[in-house]
Amino acid sequence: MKYDFDNSPGRGGTNCYKWDFLFQKFGDEDLLPLWVADMDLVTARPIVTALCQRAQHGIYGYSFRPDSYYQAIKGWYERRHAWEISTDWIVDSPGVVPAINFALQAYTSPGDRILVQTPVYDPFFEAVVSNNRILLKSSLILENNHYRIDFDDMKQKLSQDVKVLIFCSPHNPVGRVWRKSELLHLLALCVEHQVLVLSDEIHSDIIFPEFRHIPLASLAGSYQKNIITFNAPSKTFNVAGLMNSYVLIPDSDLREGFRNILVQNHLLEGNIFGMIALEAAYTSGEEWLNQLIGYLESNYAFLCDFIETEIPFLRVIEMEGTYLAWLDFRALGFSDTELAEIIVKKARIALTRGSQYGKEGEGFMRLNFACPRYFLETVLLRLKKVLQEISNQ
Ligand SMILES: Cc1ncc(COP(=O)(O)O)c(C=O)c1O
Repeated sequence: MKYDFDNSPGRGGTNCYKWDFLFQKFGDEDLLPLWVADMDLVTARPIVTALCQRAQHGIYGYSFRPDSYYQAIKGWYERRHAWEISTDWIVDSPGVVPAINFALQAYTSPGDRILVQTPVYDPFFEAVVSNNRILLKSSLILENNHYRIDFDDMKQKLSQDVKVLIFCSPHNPVGRVWRKSELLHLLALCVEHQVLVLSDEIHSDIIFPEFRHIPLASLAGSYQKNIITFNAPSKTFNVAGLMNSYVLIPDSDLREGFRNILVQNHLLEGNIFGMIALEAAYTSGEEWLNQLIGYLESNYAFLCDFIETEIPFLRVIEMEGTYLAWLDFRALGFSDTELAEIIVKKARIALTRGSQYGKEGEGFMRLNFACPRYFLETVLLRLKKVLQEISNQ
């Protein structure tokens, strides 16, 4: 079947953050929103059908995840990522961010040092700080419009008694899909310093066709027991509101430690609709996903062409996956606060401020292009008009 991503129903009035929380977040409800990392696109038909069928039943009591659910995750990894996992490794969680918090609670103590690579998804900072751990940062290097890991800095930081690295692969917000050579280099450093890695791979299914996501743990050999992988169908299939994710923990002791936190917090049961959506997505969602990736890639190409020809003083950082573009506004010379004011008050657009992801993000904005093309074009035309007016002043 052919999916029509150009025509999507509006989301206003559904209590979604992206459209219905603008006033609370930006002080204005009349903005064009490309901020929150979910899609303004309808999910795969088999997911909608499975959810509707279950909803029709009318009884939604306590339920468990069946064996077919875990087999669906295993099958997904085999087909999409050429990685054979054991269903025993899979532990459930309501979300990836809660799971990262649980892992920090299970495997570290207050005062332990945790490393992240900035600019990065900011709930990583909150997870470290709110659990009273110490946050260390290693800046990624921006070179030739492309980000890379600063391995010298990583080595130096890891040698400061770091217990855990929270790794983002692919990387939000800079759009990198890490190469095998980069992953191996990173692993070698983690082995040398005996660091546990929490590898957040929630964006691993939205990869542009020339690139390939490699699960970090699949390369780790005997160190695999020290790599914990976090994933969910929530970004891939636009089902984040169903609150369902999973964690791959190959080592039985570490798995037990994580499970204990779930038991303590009475979190072993899941959301019925989250379970059903995952199984339908991972068994019947690939046709949709392949078409989605094509659509997102063409939106990205449209964004790059538009900015290159119409707003040449802006730069789109080269990306390899995710639907989150990282835009460099620094050539305009505004402070981070001035830039945010221009985008919201003059252009009347809601983007995510780059500085939210660390000081390296000052002068940048993150733009989510997982929306119908006409809407992306409307936003870009507005941005162009305002930036031209400002640069002519
Ligand atoms: C890197 C990363 N991890 C986790 C999440 C959110 O995960 P969850 O909604 O399952 O907590 C996001 C959402 O944007 C993300 O970008």
